[in-house]
Amino acid sequence: MHTGPSPFRHLSPLDRLLDSAQNALSTVLGAPRAARANPGLGEPEVVLDEPERRHAAGLMRINHTGEVCAQALYVGQAAVAREPATRDHLLEAAQEETDHLAWCADRLRELDSRPSLLNPLWYAGSWAIGAAAGLRGDGWNLGFVVETERQVEAHLEEHLQTLPPADARSRAILAVMKDDEARHADNALAAGARTLPPPIPALMAGMSKVMKAMAYRI
Ligand SMILES: [Fe+2]
Ligand SMILES: [Fe+2]
Repeated sequence: MHTGPSPFRHLSPLDRLLDSAQNALSTVLGAPRAARANPGLGEPEVVLDEPERRHAAGLMRINHTGEVCAQALYVGQAAVAREPATRDHLLEAAQEETDHLAWCADRLRELDSRPSLLNPLWYAGSWAIGAAAGLRGDGWNLGFVVETERQVEAHLEEHLQTLPPADARSRAILAVMKDDEARHADNALAAGARTLPPPIPALMAGMSKVMKAMAYRI
């Protein structure tokens, strides 16, 4: 887990790789710790019937995997970012994604369920995509953040509509995540993001559709 921007400005490629490896292990195998309190804890726990519980768990497993991908994208992008300011920007956003990751993991446990078994694969694929985007330059790097966050924001809105109405705890978590993702996109825009050309946004949406279909079940 990252603890904020690194004070070391000149990281060697090996440092960057070790940083990524440490993040990968703690994201996929560890129990990442949130810096902020879980927003769901302010809501009463209601016993859902079995189909509702399974549906809520499927949706929260998708959101958990989405956050695994977000960690990997940001860390992959940061590993190849040119400007220290861009790198710090990415790692700061990754810190808030760690909160999201931990909250989704908490909620999956409360729903008597588990994260996706395919998370190591999603991490590896997302890291590679993040690094590939980052290698094209910092404007692209930030453009990639904007597109990712906007797509996640839209999909969180969809989940807020389709969660069982009684599941106030999941809903409270997703509402805070949605606000955070919107801010991540705005910050990246302000930092000089460029607009990604077609077909990249459509490819990203296609990949996340596959991820959602698989993570709901596996
Ligand atoms: Fe997130
Ligand atoms: Fe985000």
